[in-house]
Amino acid sequence: MRPLRILIVNAKGGCGKTTIATNLAVAYARQGLGVALVDQDSQGSAEAWAHQREASLAKVEFVAQRRATMYQTQAWRDRLPHGVERAVIDAASVATERNLDDYFRESDAFLVPMLPSPIDIRAGGKFIDSLLNHRSYRSHPVPIGVLANRVVKRAVAYDRLTRFLERLPVPTVATFADSQLYLHAAEVGAGILDFPHDSRFAAERGEWSALLRWLEAALADKSAPPARPSAQAGKAAAAERARSTPAPMAPRRAPLLAAREVEPAVGA
Ligand SMILES: Nc1ncnc2c1ncn2[C@@H]1O[C@H](COP(=O)(O)OP(=O)(O)OP(=O)(O)O)[C@@H](O)[C@H]1O
Ligand SMILES: [Mg+2]
Repeated sequence: MRPLRILIVNAKGGCGKTTIATNLAVAYARQGLGVALVDQDSQGSAEAWAHQREASLAKVEFVAQRRATMYQTQAWRDRLPHGVERAVIDAASVATERNLDDYFRESDAFLVPMLPSPIDIRAGGKFIDSLLNHRSYRSHPVPIGVLANRVVKRAVAYDRLTRFLERLPVPTVATFADSQLYLHAAEVGAGILDFPHDSRFAAERGEWSALLRWLEAALADKSAPPARPSAQAGKAAAAERARSTPAPMAPRRAPLLAAREVEPAVGA
């Protein structure tokens, strides 16, 4: 079975991609799945995390993939250790057209972390817009989930983020707190699910369970190898596709954000 590939990505830096990628890798490893953490970011943060990780903890394979060219992209898949069932990819914070092409070619699901600040909401909204309007998405949509990250639920900024997320055409699948616990875990090459008995992590664990459930449902039909239809079945499938192909989507959607929606609110 080929590994399912989950890309953690946002054009906006510092939104928590590495934190979420490492924690997701741990979540899968603790489920007993073979998991690889793929570092596409030249800063090497995921690599540093992987080097800290103690051998006694659930195994996370590490694969570095700097400078994504098409050939190197192929190479990282070839270099995945045997038995890897989930590849969690920590993407670099650049979203050129070519990067977007690679993202779509190389991923079975996208997770987009988003911080509650006005700047991050604006940048994240634009990025999601660019994914939804990309030709690859329009011809073969992949699951895209948003992750609200570093949330302080009492803050005004959280209300603003919530209002924004409710209007997005993609689901928000988990909300992670702004918590020092993530930093403490990262310092020792761990994720918060490495501490299943620590009561301080209880609320966060629920969010991670929600994310895992969403991913498994979103990826359910992707693990089976593509069937090779017989000539007859192929013709029938082509006819069925022609009947059921939805009308082309509307041309470029209006931007997801109106400027006034990201004005900082007093007291944020
Ligand atoms: N939920 C959280 N609670 C507290 N701190 C967090 C949380 N998520 C991320 N951080 C912290 O925010 C900072 C940025 O996070 P991280 O490095 O994961 O983002 P990134 O998107 O990978 O950044 P870059 O674009 O530089 O690669 C780090 O110091 C990290 O420890
Ligand atoms: Mg990073």
